[in-house]
Amino acid sequence: MREYPTRLEAERLLQESEQMNPGPWGDHCRVVAKCAEAIAKACGDLDSEKAYVLGLMHDIGRRFGYGHLKHVYDGWRFMLELGYPAAAKICLTHSCCIPTLEVYIGRADIAPEQYQELAKALSATEYDEYDQLIQLCDAIGMADGATDILTRMNDVKSRYGQYPQAKWDKNLELKDWFSEKAGRPIEEITAGIRP
Ligand SMILES: [Fe+2]
Repeated sequence: MREYPTRLEAERLLQESEQMNPGPWGDHCRVVAKCAEAIAKACGDLDSEKAYVLGLMHDIGRRFGYGHLKHVYDGWRFMLELGYPAAAKICLTHSCCIPTLEVYIGRADIAPEQYQELAKALSATEYDEYDQLIQLCDAIGMADGATDILTRMNDVKSRYGQYPQAKWDKNLELKDWFSEKAGRPIEEITAGIRP
């Protein structure tokens, strides 16, 4: 059984979802997917097709409308319902480079039982390199292209009014880790990537 959609299926799902809830989020997903694919290729021991598809699906919960933690919950449930556990895992982990909902930036706009369900799933999840790769790419992918991580984190900080220090530091750590693994700076690998 497939753990995540094919490239074509993922592209079709994203297009359909953008029609349900139009906005720049679709292009953000395309940038994240292309960055993940490029970094995975540069690393050599990661599946670049898988990285692309997981990047494309990480915000798929936005098809159900605007939301903060809601898009994490909705995406996770949607991918599980379609039978794609690896993509569901990415929906769950992409906003939490520190594995707890307490550092989630944004509102907990879901029912208390849903919050508990999500918290339980997250604590039972072990992160792998794909989770970390998509967290990193989410932190460099704007809707119009890849940017440097500090610009992107400052953009989030100005929109949400805060950015937890632990998360800030963890993102920089991920950047250094993947740069070292790839043998060159991720800024160089992702330079010029557009949706
Ligand atoms: Fe997201």
